[in-house]
Amino acid sequence: MDLRITCIPGDGIGPEIIAEAKKVLDTVAKQYGHTMHYTDILMGGASIDVHGVPLTKEAVETAKSGDAVLMGSIGGDTTTSPWYRLEPSLRPEAGLLAIRKELNLFANLRPAVLYDELVAACPLKDEIAAAGFDMMIMRELTGGLYFGEKRTIEENGVRKAVDTLVYDENEIRRIAIKGFDIAMKRRKKVTSVDKANVLASSRLWRSVVDEVAKKYPEVTLEHMLVDNCAMQLVKDPAQFDVILTENMFGDILSDEASMVTGSIGMLASASLNDTKFGLYEPSHGSAPDIAGKDIANPIATVLSAAMMLRYSFDLDREADAVESAVREVLQSGYRTGDIMAEGCIKVGCRQMGDLLADRIK
Ligand code: IPM
Ligand code: MG
Repeated sequence: MDLRITCIPGDGIGPEIIAEAKKVLDTVAKQYGHTMHYTDILMGGASIDVHGVPLTKEAVETAKSGDAVLMGSIGGDTTTSPWYRLEPSLRPEAGLLAIRKELNLFANLRPAVLYDELVAACPLKDEIAAAGFDMMIMRELTGGLYFGEKRTIEENGVRKAVDTLVYDENEIRRIAIKGFDIAMKRRKKVTSVDKANVLASSRLWRSVVDEVAKKYPEVTLEHMLVDNCAMQLVKDPAQFDVILTENMFGDILSDEASMVTGSIGMLASASLNDTKFGLYEPSHGSAPDIAGKDIANPIATVLSAAMMLRYSFDLDREADAVESAVREVLQSGYRTGDIMAEGCIKVGCRQMGDLLADRIK
């Protein structure tokens, strides 16, 4: 099979972790008889430095012409990087938001799994960690506060800023359908997270999710308020299967969920539209403080590449091979600095990539 993959190395540790993901993908290609066609595009700070904007039309067109996008990370240090002296619409993150919108990537899947090998890195109490957890956060990605009307004004000498949280029923329905579809392939439970005791958008969210649920009688649906969910994630994460939520809540809850897995360096993500097309990226940021030092953890990017094989190319065996390689390397005791534990062998980013590629069967 020919796989046309657009790569966005991006900023900070992005180029290093993308290089390791490609190493693993190339091994998969060799062993399973596929051909990888990579095309790089610039986004974020890397694009600002060359083109003065975080994403060009040409880059979007290139991305649209491929089968899937594999991204590293974008952005820099928000207090020191000159990128953050630009107006907000020209900063690195605006490129990421624009590509999500341009490619209509409304469904963001962020799986948070506690690997047995990383239980020691889990910051939760032993008895909670021992129960393990395996959840999928389904975050709506092209609506809500991120894309609603924004303005900053001055009224009678008082500065005022407005962000608008807006959802229509179609936006809610399509993400809810994806959430229930995914739940059908998992443990058949959906926890829809909102703030219906305060927000009108959440009340609409809840009623549309209830409508969609009627078509999935096998799936158990529960509604949970977002503040309670934040608490439940550290109290009893094992209760969750699919968490279905809007853009901003999903942003916050997915960082929390990633930390309880032991490290944000392990969390993959897929952003999908209505077709097989998707953008795959680690859930973590560009970590400018450790960029270029060969100490970043490439596993979240490698696992994102596995999600790409599974969701965009229907290559389940190949995706399984990548995920098994990750487990085997962890079982053999290899760790990057962020997940290092006593008695383990500390390796850098490149060596972790080599170890993973070596274990592709
Ligand atoms: C994420 C990130 C982005 C978001 C930022 C970089 C705009 O935090 O993918 O979770 O808020 O969506
Ligand atoms: Mg985030």
